[in-house]
Amino acid sequence: MATNITFHAPALTRNERETQRNQRGLTIWLTGLSASGKSTIAVELERQLLTRNIHAYRLDGDNIRFGLNKDLGFSENDRNENIRRIGEVAKLFADSASIAITSFISPYQKDRDSARALHETPTPGEDKGLPFVEVYVDVPVEVAEQRDPKGLYKKAREGVIKEFTGISAPYEAPAKPEVHIKNVDLSLADAVNQIVEYLDSKGYLP
Ligand code: PPS
Repeated sequence: MATNITFHAPALTRNERETQRNQRGLTIWLTGLSASGKSTIAVELERQLLTRNIHAYRLDGDNIRFGLNKDLGFSENDRNENIRRIGEVAKLFADSASIAITSFISPYQKDRDSARALHETPTPGEDKGLPFVEVYVDVPVEVAEQRDPKGLYKKAREGVIKEFTGISAPYEAPAKPEVHIKNVDLSLADAVNQIVEYLDSKGYLP
């Protein structure tokens, strides 16, 4: 834990930054099992927002684990740390008046709650926190296992991959997500629409 550190005020308040950019900063947090469709939905959502000239940036489980979080595995502690760091990074994007779209399994409710609290608690000098939109991409584990696009469920069943979410490690479904996508027999367009409609209903999009 560092000591003797000082918080420096930014050049612009968040309100000023949002006014300059003409958009709200916020985080859209997708959570769900491997092969639930999180990344596919995140990619299409990002594409639609960018097409509307809304600045958005996607943070994705596999990709972040090649870089920032390459020191982390899949133990409970490592997943806690993975999500803690992603929460901090997403908040930085949101604070800069961008839309951060994260797609991580994020299996533990308390980790998602911490990421939410980090956003919703105003930082010094700000009068409000940042919106945190939890999106549950819900497919039963049997469906995810049947899809198994990367062959990971098969390896998990064979014991080649340990602590695999849904098979040998827990997934705690969100209790009160802002958006609940039941992603079985649903088109990609309809899944993304559910999120966009929620954002519009809250007045989050310009
Ligand atoms: S977590 O639980 O949020 O820390 O996981 P995340 O950073 O999203 O990484 C999930 C991707 O890692 C691959 N993978 C595993 N997933 C779950 N359990 C185990 N043991 C595991 N080992 C590797 C897998 O490709 C996940 O990607 P998605 O896109 O979810 O399928």
